[in-house]
Amino acid sequence: MKQLADKTIFITGGASGIGSACVQAYLSAGAKVFVMDKDEQALERMLRTGVPGLGGFKGDVSKGPDVAAALQHALDLFGNLDSIHNNAGISSPSKAIDDTTEDEWDLLMNVNLKSIYWTTKYGISLLKKNKGNILNTSSMTGEMGQSLHAVYTASKGAINALTKSMALDYAAAGVRVNAIAPAGVWTPLLRQWADQQSDSAQITTYLNEIHALGYCPEGDVVADVAVFLLSDAARFVTGCIMPVSGGAELGYKK
Ligand SMILES: NC(=O)c1ccc[n+]([C@@H]2O[C@H](COP(=O)([O-])OP(=O)(O)OC[C@H]3O[C@@H](n4cnc5c(N)ncnc54)[C@H](O)[C@@H]3O)[C@@H](O)[C@H]2O)c1
Repeated sequence: MKQLADKTIFITGGASGIGSACVQAYLSAGAKVFVMDKDEQALERMLRTGVPGLGGFKGDVSKGPDVAAALQHALDLFGNLDSIHNNAGISSPSKAIDDTTEDEWDLLMNVNLKSIYWTTKYGISLLKKNKGNILNTSSMTGEMGQSLHAVYTASKGAINALTKSMALDYAAAGVRVNAIAPAGVWTPLLRQWADQQSDSAQITTYLNEIHALGYCPEGDVVADVAVFLLSDAARFVTGCIMPVSGGAELGYKK
């Protein structure tokens, strides 16, 4: 029996990077997957593959009406919902807090954090019916901090706190809430961050070295853990911020 056989999963930001790797892994594990993404072209490319059990909706996760419409489309297509994976995120601006504009603050917080408010507001009743689960894509920076990335790290630290509180609030309904915390993962978002660094030529070496396991991975390493957390194998795991970081947070290295 496949790990996610007959499960229905709604994922945001599934058209690229970590989200796209999760979509492939969920489908391979037997799930039906509905992708909400604001990148229409990338989403259409994904949907054009015609993979059975794959649906999608173009929308902005920071906008309540878009999220409500996307969840309704997923429900119309699948008839129920087992999981919501809040994965969409942006990493700009790469700045200290005093250099960050109010618009930059609001955009990042609305996309990375308030989006979870919207998917929960419109999706939790569906998850309660199926004793389903929520997975939030956090980041190791939410726990460790990162220079010149203040708003992003604050959004991820807030996601960690939210994950634990939501896990408590929905446990009685049998709904699990977990997060995954990668360090670096090669995706378009990481490449954009790397390009913004003053020493961008050395960034590949840096990103390999911060991971104790010695390399900066692709999204598949995160997707494999996400499959586990959404599956019944993780039925007694809730409120967990699971590092998928190659040991980046373990300590100083020589
Ligand atoms: N790549 C890394 O090193 C890394 C490390 C830790 C955490 N993360 C987190 O992983 C998640 C995915 O990042 P990624 O690296 O795969 O990035 P990515 O840019 O490759 O993919 C992000 C996807 O989210 C979509 N998206 C962005 N804003 C949206 C919005 N407002 N509405 C709907 N969709 C939107 C994009 O169109 C894109 O398809 C993010 O939450 C990010 O913070 C990434």
